[in-house]
Amino acid sequence: MNIFEATKETIDRAANVIKSGGLVAFPTETVYGLGADGLNPIAVAKIFETKKRPSFNPLILHIANKNELTEFAFVDDSRIEKLINKFWPGPLTLVLPKHDVVPDIVTSGNTTVAIRMPDHPVALQLIERSGCPIAAPSANKFGHLSPTEASHVYRSIGDKVDMILDGGKCSVGVESTIIQFTDGKIILLRPGGLSREEIENEIGKVEVISKFSIRPNAPGQLPFHYAPTIPLYFLTVENLKKYSNKKIGALFFKCANLNYNFESIRILSEKGDMKEAAANLFKYLHELEKENIDLILAEPVEEEGLGVAIMDRLNKGTNRFIN
Ligand code: TXA
Ligand code: MG
Repeated sequence: MNIFEATKETIDRAANVIKSGGLVAFPTETVYGLGADGLNPIAVAKIFETKKRPSFNPLILHIANKNELTEFAFVDDSRIEKLINKFWPGPLTLVLPKHDVVPDIVTSGNTTVAIRMPDHPVALQLIERSGCPIAAPSANKFGHLSPTEASHVYRSIGDKVDMILDGGKCSVGVESTIIQFTDGKIILLRPGGLSREEIENEIGKVEVISKFSIRPNAPGQLPFHYAPTIPLYFLTVENLKKYSNKKIGALFFKCANLNYNFESIRILSEKGDMKEAAANLFKYLHELEKENIDLILAEPVEEEGLGVAIMDRLNKGTNRFIN
């Protein structure tokens, strides 16, 4: 077993793994990341190999200190400072013009780089002790459910990483919100753990990238993503009829209000709290895909605040099975 409870000693060991070009899965407040030295192209190449990820998908650089941002990216808009002062550390990734020190393999040849400062003590200590920015995608095989617990990482890619640091359950549970600054405009590339409303309260209007962008530069924008290993569809009357002879696992938002003989049931938040629902989303999908059921039906949630990120993940998860 290569899962280690995160302690001062194990974080030091993990930092040595990163320094020597290895891979460490580590907790952040959003999801677990699969980390490598972000300035070492060979170490970063191992990430793509391990995830079986198309190499055109660029990675996020994780830093431990707000001041490091300008080492790797050009900051030429006062709104950027406003955002990082308010939301870093936290689930917000900024895509900005990159400096030459950032290797092309990190950005997939783009002239921009994605950067965030995670809000998790283990992630921050690991980055600090490694002495480099850590490039990290979510620590799962490409296209599958994101990991929000160390055991999820272990099931997906456990045999391919040098160490998994266990820091418990991720508190946010969906990936960071990604925004890009281009030509004075701010574009939301991926909805995530920080809502658009919160960002707009701070800096004004944010545009949303078209859903049907043909050349996505965020897998979050690919039509298929975040899919469990068994079919996932939305919970509708038609689907209940269509699959009435199947064993169904149901994922509800607030209450299991349907009189139907489901094989298994999960409720994202009995209080109806979107934050709690987001934190439980991947956990419950991981649990359901392990059960003896034929498919999962998920109740749609209201697309407001974090509900936008939840529906984005569910839409992309269902898309894989619809066509
Ligand atoms: O919460 C998170 O963001 C997690 C944790 C580990 O930090 N990371 C994560 O990484 O979700 P990943 O690789 O699964 O998603 C990163 C997204 C991808 O959709 C990628 O295409 C986009 O960031 N991205 C990275 N660099 C970019 C760039 N230069 N321009 C546009 N999108 C970029
Ligand atoms: Mg991912």
